[in-house]
Amino acid sequence: MKKISPRKLFLLSPVLLLLSCGGRNANEQSDTAQLSTPEDTVDYLALGQEYAAQTQSVLGKNLMQAIQSEGSAHAVDFCNTRAYPLTDSMAQVLNVHLKRVSDQPRNPDNAADGSQLQYIKAGKEKLAQGGKVSPQLQEFDGKMIAYYPIITNTMCLQCHGDPNRQINQETLAKLNTLYPEDQAKGYAENQLRGIWVVEMDKE
Ligand code: HEC
Repeated sequence: MKKISPRKLFLLSPVLLLLSCGGRNANEQSDTAQLSTPEDTVDYLALGQEYAAQTQSVLGKNLMQAIQSEGSAHAVDFCNTRAYPLTDSMAQVLNVHLKRVSDQPRNPDNAADGSQLQYIKAGKEKLAQGGKVSPQLQEFDGKMIAYYPIITNTMCLQCHGDPNRQINQETLAKLNTLYPEDQAKGYAENQLRGIWVVEMDKE
């Protein structure tokens, strides 16, 4: 089984210092990523999990810093301007394609489609029944494409929760200005906010 190389982890460290909007559940939901594979086979599900978790951790850390230093309204600007470049720079360092998509996107560029939507729908049903959302791997056009759930926690609700109770006025005003078509409000804790899509070259 192939792990993320030490060289890649080393390259990653400066990026970890950069600022970032996302959860930290890619790791927690990893039960089915532990597939055992023969020695000479790449465990793409585990590898992609690592990429998604690293990127999510960078986003999460920087988001927390932004909130703590100047509050959630300011952190909206941070997400607005930094979520994309930060995700892209991680993808570059890791040499994979990485994106976050949702069935209820805030940024319309993050709209899920086709099989992503199917996966999200099935995941929501599983969660509603008290189950867990497992990652999923498929091969398409010679690429390995993996999906990992992004689950909400309490912290997310100041920007993705109930607009009357959990999002403060200043933050709400900012969100409404920047995202007139926002569909990403009204979430509760432990819901499927979206997914990481990790596209890896097949070795
Ligand atoms: C300070 C406000 C804020 C907080 C807190 C926040 N987000 Fe977001 N989130 C945003 C903004 C703004 C965007 C749109 C970013 C963009 O334009 O690319 C976004 C986008 C996303 C997206 C991409 C899909 C989409 O809707 O565009 C996901 C997934 C997401 N957030 C998950 C989370 C999770 C999970 C948490 C909690 C761990 C969280 N966010 C916390 C503001 C926030």
